[in-house]
Amino acid sequence: MKKRILSGMRPTGKLHLGHLVGALDNWVKLQEEYDCFFMVADWHAFMSEYENTAELPENIIDNVVDWLSVGIDPDKSTVFIQSHIPEHAELHVIFSCITPLGLLERCPTYKEQMREVKARNLNTYGFLGYPVLQAADILLYKSDKVPVGQDQLPHLELTRQVARLFNNLSKKEIFPFPDAILTKTPKLLGLDGRKMSKSYLNTINLSDSPEVIMRKVSAMFTDPKRIKLSDKGHPDTCNVFSYYSVFMPQIKNEVYDWCLDAKKGCTECKKMLALAIIEKLAPIQEKRKSLLKDKAALKKILDEGAKKAAGVASGTMKEVRKAVNL
Ligand code: TRP
Ligand code: SF4
Repeated sequence: MKKRILSGMRPTGKLHLGHLVGALDNWVKLQEEYDCFFMVADWHAFMSEYENTAELPENIIDNVVDWLSVGIDPDKSTVFIQSHIPEHAELHVIFSCITPLGLLERCPTYKEQMREVKARNLNTYGFLGYPVLQAADILLYKSDKVPVGQDQLPHLELTRQVARLFNNLSKKEIFPFPDAILTKTPKLLGLDGRKMSKSYLNTINLSDSPEVIMRKVSAMFTDPKRIKLSDKGHPDTCNVFSYYSVFMPQIKNEVYDWCLDAKKGCTECKKMLALAIIEKLAPIQEKRKSLLKDKAALKKILDEGAKKAAGVASGTMKEVRKAVNL
């Protein structure tokens, strides 16, 4: 039997190259080896965006379309929307009764958001329980592995703690203790050299047109010490060069030498990079177009995903209710 994976994303906006390189490329590979469940975490999005949900329905569909376009295959993986499966909420309630408050208050992601996020009111009961819902997502499917970024490790730790608490309480081995699968790929920074993030306006989106990509890449920061064409560059500290490692590893060494010896200029270097990104995204955008043409087929994929997810979820909840006499 294949081991099971569950992962998810919050549908808070358009997906970008950071999602592709940091998560989706990895998901596509994992579906060959594991029984994968990929979930749109719309309740998690609601926890922080509840004041502004106008774009939520559109974002949910847009994210699913991007997943399918990059190669998530609904014949191999179960693709579904969290809120279609009410068992997530039921398990969340049960877990929230047994999770010590201190574990949540001490959670580093919670403390950071409380400190950093001022624009939205996250001082709510629900937001404190964010990782409890995530534990419910993961354990509902008895997942063995969870592909996530480094920032999510505290949530995985909490998931194992909750699993242990529940197993101890019920004196049954109902839940496994899932491990993270961390992506090895080097992180792609944003166009300005900071973390790639929608809120920094420094992303290249998977759905950006060739013109937009060309414009965004041309405006990328390069080595600030290279002002004239004849100045030697420092590829090791140039963000454009780090993109070459990801999108054109085959000519990376050549570019390194040009840059060091000032054989080509930054404008040309960026133009070539933009073309490589456009080429990488072309088949994805082609697929995207055809998926968007057939809304009925998309709905069918999500309905079937929900059906498969519900089958597993209802089985787990039967066990859970019985184990605690509910
Ligand atoms: N918290 C995750 C994030 O922000 C999203 C998420 C929700 C998730 N439920 C999950 C990830 C379950 C992995 C498993 O990225
Ligand atoms: Fe960066 Fe390319 Fe310019 Fe070198 S030539 S500094 S790698 S953009």
